Amino acid sequence: MAKLLCPSMMCADFGNLKKEVTELDLAGADSFHCDVMDGSFVPNIAMGVMDIEAVRQHTNKMVDCHLMIENPSSKIDWFINAGADLIYIHPESERYVSKTLAYIKSRGKLAGLAINPDTNPLVVSEVLGLCDYLLVMTVNPGFAGQAFLPTVKEKIKVLLDMKENYHYKIIIDGACSPQIIAELSKMGCDGFVLGTSALFGQKKTYQDIMKELQRL
Ligand code: DX5
Ligand code: ZN
Repeated sequence: MAKLLCPSMMCADFGNLKKEVTELDLAGADSFHCDVMDGSFVPNIAMGVMDIEAVRQHTNKMVDCHLMIENPSSKIDWFINAGADLIYIHPESERYVSKTLAYIKSRGKLAGLAINPDTNPLVVSEVLGLCDYLLVMTVNPGFAGQAFLPTVKEKIKVLLDMKENYHYKIIIDGACSPQIIAELSKMGCDGFVLGTSALFGQKKTYQDIMKELQRL
């Protein structure tokens, strides 16, 4: 089954963003993953509304926003208006998770939940029915180039087992190397955020890399 390949745009060359988006689109990107960080929920600041607008301008493919921000419910419209098709919120940063997921869907967009390595799936079991996508963090969010946390594999297995009762797709975010992509694809994961571990800063073209990753 074809896996969803989601380039992590925080890893892209922002000096040539139009070229990067165009090349990644042609290379077969399924969704442009835009990491939004507020320096409070995570110890970093990455992409902002203008960056999402810039990505949106150069592709008709899906644009997804990973909101690593406190109290995301107050800012959902910012990212919908910037062009997001899918918005991930963290249950660890939002008091009203089901209300916020329902709001995203009421605006005709896809709703996602991004789950930190420390968060047990049972914490979110009440809202999984509202999720179109689950973003399973396999690193502590905030920075590219970190090491994969193998303990998360058990959680992925639990979420895969629960999948038959819900409609969510499972996307893995963090240190997705070709080896990890091969292993977790075989387990049944639906897609991967591609950063420095597989896509950016490599010696091959985006086209060749994505072709190879699809074959794994
Ligand atoms: C992590 C980021 C991802 C990803 C980057 O906070 O959300 O974009 O880790 O990819 P890697 O980990 O492969 O550099
Ligand atoms: Zn992300």
